Amino acid sequence: MIRGCWGNRKLTMAVSCCLVLAVIALTVGLCVGLKSDSNARDDSPRFTIDHEANTFMLDGQPFRYVSGSFHYFRAVPEAWRSRLRTMRASGLNALDTYVEWSLHNPHDGEYNWEGIADVVKFLEIAQEEDFYIILRPGPYICAERDNGGLPHWLFTKYPTIKMRTNDPNYIAEVGKWYAQLMPRLEHLYVGNGGKIIMVQVENEYGDYACDHDYLNWLRDETEKYVAGNALLFTVDIPNEKMSCGKIENVFATTDFGIDRIHEIDEIWKMLRVQQPTGPLVNSEFYPGWLTHWQEQNQRRDGQEVANALKTILSYNASVNLYMFFGGTNFGFTAGANYNLDGALGYAADITSYDYDAVMDEAGGVTTKYNLVKEAIGQFLTLPDITLNPAKRLAYGKVLLTPSLALLSAEGRAALSKGTPVESVKPKTFEELDLYSGLVLYETELPDMDLDPALLKIGQINDRAHVFVDMELVGTLSREAQIYSLPLSKGWGSTLQLLVENQGRVNFYISNDTKGIFGDVSLQLHNGGYLPLENWRSTAFPLDDTSIKRWQEGQSEKEIRLDSFLARQRILRNGPILYTGTLSVEEVGDTYLNMAGWGKGVAYVNGFNLGRYWPVAGPQITLYVPNEVLKVGSNSLVILEYQRANKTATGDDLPAVQFDAVAQLDGESGDVPLK
Ligand SMILES: *[C@@H]1O[C@H](CO)[C@@H](O)[C@H](O)[C@H]1NC(C)=O
Ligand SMILES: *[C@@H]1O[C@H](CO)[C@@H](O)[C@H](O)[C@H]1NC(C)=O
Ligand SMILES: *[C@@H]1O[C@H](CO)[C@@H](O)[C@H](O)[C@H]1NC(C)=O
Repeated sequence: MIRGCWGNRKLTMAVSCCLVLAVIALTVGLCVGLKSDSNARDDSPRFTIDHEANTFMLDGQPFRYVSGSFHYFRAVPEAWRSRLRTMRASGLNALDTYVEWSLHNPHDGEYNWEGIADVVKFLEIAQEEDFYIILRPGPYICAERDNGGLPHWLFTKYPTIKMRTNDPNYIAEVGKWYAQLMPRLEHLYVGNGGKIIMVQVENEYGDYACDHDYLNWLRDETEKYVAGNALLFTVDIPNEKMSCGKIENVFATTDFGIDRIHEIDEIWKMLRVQQPTGPLVNSEFYPGWLTHWQEQNQRRDGQEVANALKTILSYNASVNLYMFFGGTNFGFTAGANYNLDGALGYAADITSYDYDAVMDEAGGVTTKYNLVKEAIGQFLTLPDITLNPAKRLAYGKVLLTPSLALLSAEGRAALSKGTPVESVKPKTFEELDLYSGLVLYETELPDMDLDPALLKIGQINDRAHVFVDMELVGTLSREAQIYSLPLSKGWGSTLQLLVENQGRVNFYISNDTKGIFGDVSLQLHNGGYLPLENWRSTAFPLDDTSIKRWQEGQSEKEIRLDSFLARQRILRNGPILYTGTLSVEEVGDTYLNMAGWGKGVAYVNGFNLGRYWPVAGPQITLYVPNEVLKVGSNSLVILEYQRANKTATGDDLPAVQFDAVAQLDGESGDVPLK
């Protein structure tokens, strides 16, 4: 039986397409690069698989790729070309990227294809820089991104949606999304004269579930657009669940890092069960690893990485280094893990996605880069490319003026999204159609018949500063699994919980909505608990737009918080916005050093650099791309939730520093969150 040409092609073409492969394509049939049926110019597909020689074939020649992952959404668009050129200079011949649904489709029916979301431009630059392309459109991408790249508004629209399954609502939305995305990519497939050779279906699905109806549907939906013009493939973790990720007529690959290189023969054997013939492919070879807050920065030895790469390549395998260039989770885009690696519960990813990758967070060449380049050079011809890395500059100290208290009337008016929503139960972030930022939940406290009485909350996703009448009384945390604290009678009448979304889980659980879950209840004298109702939920998106709007409203006059709030070191009355000016004579890459501060978000010229949390570590500095700076005055806004790095007295103000080097290995708990 001839398999391998599904989709909407005519049967006659299916036969001619697959004829050469028919003998060997008993279980897998693969054929790409065919022109559409009516006006076929050349019947030989450009990119195919030779199942006897176990190799890819490109334009009739055996082909293997050594690719590197670089996600366009982790670098500003002005930096794309230089990052890609540095990658190409190492000898890589292919680029691998995910496509992030939530970036391009931030709200239901709203699409974004500009700036950092101009994925077509990114892929065109990659083609110009001489790369073949491996495209991974997901739609679930994991990638240590908020919700694994799936938009938060799916929860708003369908509260009980089952992502990554045959749920009709999920499938209908994926269909709408692919109808927007896929037609834009058509000219980029190898069969249409472009350089995309492979397109992934789902992502490490076998490890998650075993719904083949969904996988088959997604394969057909992808092929509807790819139409034989690139090769569909899957990636599965080499474990006993691999067969759950295997899709009929889709080329199967696997992924592993240096920690599993000693069992490479067993891993290839496992892959061969799913994919008996064709080239061996490691789609995610990890030269580094991801890092959570409150753990040590994950480092991997460069020489071990280079040796393992040589081992993989000695099998004639194709390989993708994940990440070759990691970049940054700007804004609120970082994801989180749950129950991973012995951690008990929730663990949020740091803002940097340096990943101890082959290139560093600013796109620079590292010792590891040179070792990896040397390894690649033993297998592929190295191109002769001269690099012009951006300068890294230390701009020194910037003083910060306390300018706005978030929970004050002015703060709420300036930065909240509309008026508070009133409801019996607190509204989730998703119900408020809020991607991230903060939500303030307020209710009136009943007369307490105990002193103190325990305030107990079912679940906080993910962290709450608790106030009574605007006075801080403690912090609750999903990471630390602290969901209760004592309140004293007479502290006041209004209970306020300021809840932070620290990043939606991107691996395994698929319903990580944010806010307050279960009852918020107060201990009673009789041993029972009284659930608190009638809440006001106020959303603070804290996105670039709302910060810029506030700054523009301030005109040129000096903004200064005129009260005792301004002199606080520990922010006992809620977050404060600090503003400052960075004067620049020469533009370069730099790192914002947040040493001495607590936890918050930083903006340069209205660009959200991401979350900082130096008291937790290990990340101390935030990467500031040279592209967001300009010669002259640059505005700096720090929204600090917990504490300033010193007390502001008179003109003696707290400060931050701009350094020329990153500090990602700061002191931290050094222990997994147990
Ligand atoms: C790799 O490919 C070459 C050329 O086709 C072949 O001679 C060699 O045996 C292959 N090596 C392995 C380990 O498959
Ligand atoms: C997510 O699903 C799990 C398992 O079904 C459930 O225990 C949990 O409460 C859900 N979380 C939310 C926020 O709905
Ligand atoms: C506050 O930041 C400034 C500038 O980086 C630094 O010199 C100072 O040591 C910091 N203060 C504390 C207490 O960390």
